Amino acid sequence: MDRMDRGRLAEPLTLRGLEISNRLWMSPMCQYSAGAVGVPTNWHMVHCGSRAVGGAGLIMVESTAVGPRHRTTARDLGLWDAAQVDAHKVLATQIKSLGSLAGVQLNSAGRKSSHMVPGVQGGQNSAVSVEDGGWVPLAPSARPFGNLTVPTEMTAADLDDTVDAFSAAARNAHDAGYDLVEVHAAHGYLLHQFLSPVSNGRDDEHGGSLENRMRFPLRVCQAVRNAFPQNKPVFVRLTATDWIEGGITLDEATVFAQRLAGLGIDLLDVTSGALAPDAPPPNKPCLNLKFAEVLKEATGIAVAPVGQLSDPELLANISGFSTVDAVIVGRALLRDPYFALRLTTAQAKDHWPRQYHRAL
Ligand SMILES: Cc1cc2nc3c(=O)[nH]c(=O)nc-3n(C[C@H](O)[C@H](O)[C@H](O)COP(=O)(O)O)c2cc1C
Repeated sequence: MDRMDRGRLAEPLTLRGLEISNRLWMSPMCQYSAGAVGVPTNWHMVHCGSRAVGGAGLIMVESTAVGPRHRTTARDLGLWDAAQVDAHKVLATQIKSLGSLAGVQLNSAGRKSSHMVPGVQGGQNSAVSVEDGGWVPLAPSARPFGNLTVPTEMTAADLDDTVDAFSAAARNAHDAGYDLVEVHAAHGYLLHQFLSPVSNGRDDEHGGSLENRMRFPLRVCQAVRNAFPQNKPVFVRLTATDWIEGGITLDEATVFAQRLAGLGIDLLDVTSGALAPDAPPPNKPCLNLKFAEVLKEATGIAVAPVGQLSDPELLANISGFSTVDAVIVGRALLRDPYFALRLTTAQAKDHWPRQYHRAL
């Protein structure tokens, strides 16, 4: 990687007056390690803390449910009660004390809810029944995700409650000290389920046309923007394509992105896929980069792609890097907590925390 590329990754980015020290950020990655109920644990302190020490400018805390029924599993984080806020306060303080900014991703799982923890008895494809302590998922339509429990179609009251739950979680995120929040509208979770005709078969004002399918996700994003302080950024993670015949296309995603920009959303975190079990995204480096460039061009707001942005050489050679605002990294940071330092610092000794220099 030459100095110019490193220089850009190492440049700060300012959103609503909040300066993020560089442009390589940690993607939200559910650890399925919450304590009872939905509370961050020592695992989260170490997991997020070590990537903050490792130089990621922003740590996005994993998918955090806005209510008990909105969790994917019983081990998900939550932000709906006071005990959770207190524990998130400790986590946000930890991340910030180690030099990063702290964000949290707010989510409702919809039909991808009440399943086993990955790696345990069939994991994400294995339902946990009500008798075994699970719950019946809520979704736009009674269309199950793979082998999971058939969800209940949401009523108008369920939609209102869910909007209120997102607003309350955004306020709780502020009280916990998070610098920003991200609304999860991708990876096949509730808001994405409303957007896509594959999972949304409604015949009311929430189904059918794109305008109707966008109505509920836009309402949630607007509510979160209103509930979160005006001087703090709100991101949305959205899908650029479902990679499915009859699913969301880049054209539809572009219209959604433009509407998000109109609501005052500060950054689009651009991903794709995961709506249905039989439609994995292609295994291709930088797969969402071009989509992010298109969405930036169409909206004029900040964008950051995620997905297979892990090869340092490739990152150096992304010809369009100047056309996106940051890169979001997942698994490469699981493999190497110091990945961000390696890519954003010039001297070999700076690739390590100062406290470890005597090891060099
Ligand atoms: C262990 C694990 C947990 C994940 N949990 C979440 C999550 O909580 N929210 C989310 O939006 N994406 C989640 N993802 C997807 C990642 O955030 C990211 O989008 C994906 O891994 C692609 O990026 P990568 O190629 O850099 O890993 C998860 C991925 C992994 C590997």
